[in-house]
Parts: sequence; structure tokens; C-alpha cells
Amino acid sequence: MTYDTLLTELEEGLLTVTVNRPDQLNALNRSVLADMDKLMDHVLSNQHVKAIILTGAGPKAFVAGADISEFMQAGPEEGAALAKRGQDLFFRIENCPKPFIAAVNGFALGGGCELAMSCHFRIASDNAKFGQPEVNLGIIPGYGGTQRLPRLIGSGRAMELILSGNMIDAAEALRIGLVNHVTTPETLMEKAKNILQTILAKSPVAVAQAIAAVNASAAPGVDGYSVEVEMFRGCFGTEDMKEGVTAFLEKRKPSFPGR
Ligand code: COA
Repeated sequence: MTYDTLLTELEEGLLTVTVNRPDQLNALNRSVLADMDKLMDHVLSNQHVKAIILTGAGPKAFVAGADISEFMQAGPEEGAALAKRGQDLFFRIENCPKPFIAAVNGFALGGGCELAMSCHFRIASDNAKFGQPEVNLGIIPGYGGTQRLPRLIGSGRAMELILSGNMIDAAEALRIGLVNHVTTPETLMEKAKNILQTILAKSPVAVAQAIAAVNASAAPGVDGYSVEVEMFRGCFGTEDMKEGVTAFLEKRKPSFPGR
């Protein structure tokens, strides 16, 4: 599969996806959003893709936001459509049944921070910078940032970031729980791959059920505990469960068939 604005590389089930507009600091224009929708179709339908790492091209940025040059002509209706467009795409990432993580290698601002937050978790290199600078443009985050940021770091900290437009560095992002690990730029991708290899050795069925259950904790109007029961139910009687339990009893490593 090829894309105008994304580079992809599949290696042992791990798909590395690079947003590739380095001259614009990988800003999310309409083409990137369209390519990412195409990417999600591919990720969901291709059984060879087991996990995804998302990063940005070049040494400076993960994604420096929505493409500001596309804002100029937009009125209220176009603005609402743009937000809905980004939100729908980011829901697809968040609800992906395969682990989908962000390797943040520089600026993750505005839509870039929101994109990273829609991933299942984030790791960052020590030159990463995070922020929601939309207030500087007279707008607010529109791709889910006002909802996901308070969930991840608490509403007081999220309010300060969103209202001030200030950026934080990787060390601060780690301290407040926005990212799980900080590495050097050189070791970022290796760290991401190591974490995903650990996850890929587990039952793919259990991993998918766990993603759905955790996501239910934040879904509006959803009883997360009931979803947990259903996802738990979905693991029972699977070949993966049989293999996991048998391997434990036989004191060997499991080899999950993914069914
Ligand atoms: N949309 C469109 N173009 C963008 C962009 C964005 N969000 N962010 C950066 N670019 C472009 C710049 O316009 C510049 O293009 P040019 O070389 O044609 O002038 C290029 O990327 C490099 O950016 P530049 O500003 O020169 O780099 P810098 O190192 O001086 O500053 C940032 C980096 C990230 C601080 C700065 O680019 C910035 O503030 N970007 C906007 C961030 C933002 O507000 N995002 C939220 C949007 S809703």
C-alpha cells in the first residue's frame, strides 16, 4: 500500500508509519487525513499487520498540528466539519483492536498532540515538545484534545495547557503521565519496537479485548464495568485462552494462535 503523505514499513508484524511532510513539520492537511483513513482500512483488514508505531519524518517534529494554511477561508460550518473529520479519524485509531502507539520525535502540537493522545500510549524522545497552542490562533483544540488531555493528565493541568498555549518538554510530559517513556532520539524507535514485541507475544484476542475494555472507561454514556464483563466473556473458550492456561500448567511459554 502506498500513500502520498505517509511512509510505511512492515517488519515482523510491526507496521511503522511515518507522517512525511517534513518541510511543513508534518502538519495534518487534508491529504494526510485522507491517507490516514486509507491506512486504517489497511490496518484493520490486513492480517499481517499486528501492531502500529506512528512517528514523524525529519529530526524536528512528530506533527506540528493541523495545517494552518487550510484554515484561512473556513467559516463556522467548515470549522465544525474539519473538527468532525479529525475526531472521526482519531476515534478509528483509538478503537483499533491492534496496539497503536505514538513515537513522538519532536514537536507534537495542536492536532499533533491530539493525534498522539488518540494512540493507545506514547513514548517520546528527549527533544519532544507537547502543547495545544490553538488559543494563539483564536481557536481551540478540535480533534479531541479538550476531552483526551484532561483524562490523561487531569483537568487542572489540561486547562492550563489549553488556556495558555504553553509547550511542555518531554521530561514534564513524562512527569505528568502524558508519555510513558523518554529516550534519546537515536533509541526512540528501538524502544517502541521492544515494547510492541512484548505485547505481540501475548494473546492478540486478549489484547484486543483489553483495548476495548480500557477505552470503555472513557466512552460517554457507556457502563465500562459491563463492557469489561463482555470483553472478559469474549476471552473465555478461545483457542488463545486454552493455549495460555495449558502453557502455564505445563510450565512453558505460550504460543498463541490469535483465535
Ligand atoms: N501548519 C502549516 N504549516 C506549518 C505548521 C502548521 N501547523 N507548523 C509549521 N509549519 C511550517 C511553517 O509555516 C514553516 O513553513 P515555511 O518554511 O514554508 O515558512 C515550516 O513548517 C517550518 O516551521 P517554522 O515555524 O519555520 O519552524 P520553527 O522551528 O521556527 O518553529 C514551531 C516550530 C512548531 C514552534 C512553529 O512552526 C509553530 O508554532 N507551528 C504551528 C504550531 C501550531 O500552532 N499548531 C496548532 C495548529 S491548530
